Amino acid sequence: MIKFDIITILPETFGSYFSESLIARALKKKIIKIKVHNLRKWAKDKHKTVDDRPFGGGLGMVMKVEPIYRAVKSLKGKSKAKRRIIMFTPRGKKFDQRLAYKLSKFDQLILICGRYEGVDERVAEHIADMELSIGDYVLMGGEIPAMVLIETVSRLIPGVISKEELLKERITKDKGFIEHVQYTRPEVFEPEKGVKWKVPKVLLSGNHKEIEKWRKKYLRVIEK
Ligand code: ADE
Repeated sequence: MIKFDIITILPETFGSYFSESLIARALKKKIIKIKVHNLRKWAKDKHKTVDDRPFGGGLGMVMKVEPIYRAVKSLKGKSKAKRRIIMFTPRGKKFDQRLAYKLSKFDQLILICGRYEGVDERVAEHIADMELSIGDYVLMGGEIPAMVLIETVSRLIPGVISKEELLKERITKDKGFIEHVQYTRPEVFEPEKGVKWKVPKVLLSGNHKEIEKWRKKYLRVIEK
């Protein structure tokens, strides 16, 4: 079973996301495990401080290294689980389908969600195994990236989605991902009078060879 440990200062943002959909079913079936941890639990002072002003000056606050260090240490425990410690930042390596496959083979993924204007660089230097970005844009924190990673990795774990669904995705040699173009009823949709949106004829022909050929022509390559 794969376990996701999320370290965040906004634990509530994950609530409805994990209690709905296929993720909820996978949690119930104990195929995956997700634990959301409030970073403030590892803050030592009275005010549960997890951020401070940047050395050298500058705008905004920086997340402190000590609470994150204590959080990761405690979540690692004594286990020798095959794990990765991941920090989300827009500067990181781009997260993609191929990496999702690799990560789906681990026992534990500890996900550090940064907030404020940044995280003390010592977290990247000494604590995290990798820094990941989900795209070239700046979010306000790592919570949405953590959800993106959990959803992408979880659906690759056997039993989370149906076999049929997974087989439908043709996994290319280098674990890329390709998807068919698809249609369903009605054969002809008339959004307004005189306008007809039709399903390609070949798909209605029953000729499997021709259908295969046509599908190959219209594959969508998500990741090469
Ligand atoms: N934190 C802020 N922006 C991010 C991004 N694009 N990817 C991952 N983490 C982030």
